[in-house]
Amino acid sequence: MDSPVLEPDITLATVLAQAERAANVVAQVRGAVLAPEARKQPPRFTTGQVMQAVGLTKPQMDYALRKGDLPSGELTGAVKRREFSLGEYQEWVRAYHPQEQRPQGAQGLVVSIANFKGGVSKTTVALTLAQGLSLRGHRVLVVDTDPQGSITTLFGILPDTEVQDEDTVLPLVQGAQASIRYAIRPTYWSGIDLVAAAPLLFGAEFALADRMAAQPGFEYWRVLERGLADVLGDYDVVLLDTPPALTYTTLNVLMASDGIIMPLPPNALDFASSAQFWRLFGDIASGLPGAMDKRFSFINVLPAKVESTDAAGAEVRAWMGAAYGERLMPAEVPKSAATSTASANFGTVYDASVGSSRTVKRATDAFDRLVDAVLVQCVTAWRKQLAEGAR
Ligand SMILES: Nc1ncnc2c1ncn2[C@@H]1O[C@H](COP(=O)(O)OP(=O)(O)O)[C@@H](O)[C@H]1O
Ligand SMILES: [Mg+2]
Repeated sequence: MDSPVLEPDITLATVLAQAERAANVVAQVRGAVLAPEARKQPPRFTTGQVMQAVGLTKPQMDYALRKGDLPSGELTGAVKRREFSLGEYQEWVRAYHPQEQRPQGAQGLVVSIANFKGGVSKTTVALTLAQGLSLRGHRVLVVDTDPQGSITTLFGILPDTEVQDEDTVLPLVQGAQASIRYAIRPTYWSGIDLVAAAPLLFGAEFALADRMAAQPGFEYWRVLERGLADVLGDYDVVLLDTPPALTYTTLNVLMASDGIIMPLPPNALDFASSAQFWRLFGDIASGLPGAMDKRFSFINVLPAKVESTDAAGAEVRAWMGAAYGERLMPAEVPKSAATSTASANFGTVYDASVGSSRTVKRATDAFDRLVDAVLVQCVTAWRKQLAEGAR
């Protein structure tokens, strides 16, 4: 009998080679999707889209354009079709929806998207919400706290090669910086800035543990809150995407938050895990000195990846209602091919919305309702800030 061909042992060198090969493919895929300059482009808007966003009829829009108080876009192509940039679109929205904007004297709100399960659409919700709020005129800072850097990747930035320590929360967490400002970079989407993440962020957990050991009484859960305080005057909303775990970093995120949104697909295991999340967070946080004074403006559970034809899902939806009551958002994210296709192209339905198909439109409508629901809570929180400030 022939002796069997012995496969070489699988060593760590094999694992590293495999990592290298996979990273190269990711880089190639991104290069192909985002070619030629390998950078994402923001959407542009037609006059019709601006009219719809600000609620003007054609004659009113023509009048407003003639008055010239707001940007008039650019006439493009042979037929001289008017096109507005994202920044111009936002100026119109701000001018016509002042009641939805952050009032003078109010501070930006920190909103985190959390759940200790992966794949529940945290990152998708975080980015879509950032874009949706920005399309309502808000200035948004996205902070990626997941070492996987998924939201960073969706911005068209490669965590492995294009993100250094100083682009992330790491120096803040290590105590080398007191304000997050150093890490903020603009993105292709005007009105959204980013603090990126990369695998090097795994170091954050060790850094916090080291500082706790070296410094008795170190408030390891307030590092992010303190680091963000400096920039809350510059943004309307700071959106934090989190890793699928309740780490020291996630605890920092939750304790820095004014609002927490937990995307939760209606299936039994995810539902059971959500209960564990709130219990664990509640237990850990209530053991922290001074934490019982922490106040949240809103905590929401968001039905996510909902399939309308799924009977078992409908049953779990009923449990979610019983468990979370008024915390359940008056919006849900349907499971949609448009959403997963957009993410395969390193984007969201808002990136794809111009000249879009019916499925994209349906998915976008669902996210618009989510943005509405979040915005209502933000406006309420700002009014409360002002009322409390005035007392
Ligand atoms: N509403 C949705 N419909 C279809 N696919 C979705 C939806 N939300 C998320 N996905 C897909 O599910 C996967 C996990 O989503 P992601 O946002 O990365 O979750 P998480 O951040 O919780 O791990 C991604 O491939 C994403 O495209
Ligand atoms: Mg994620």
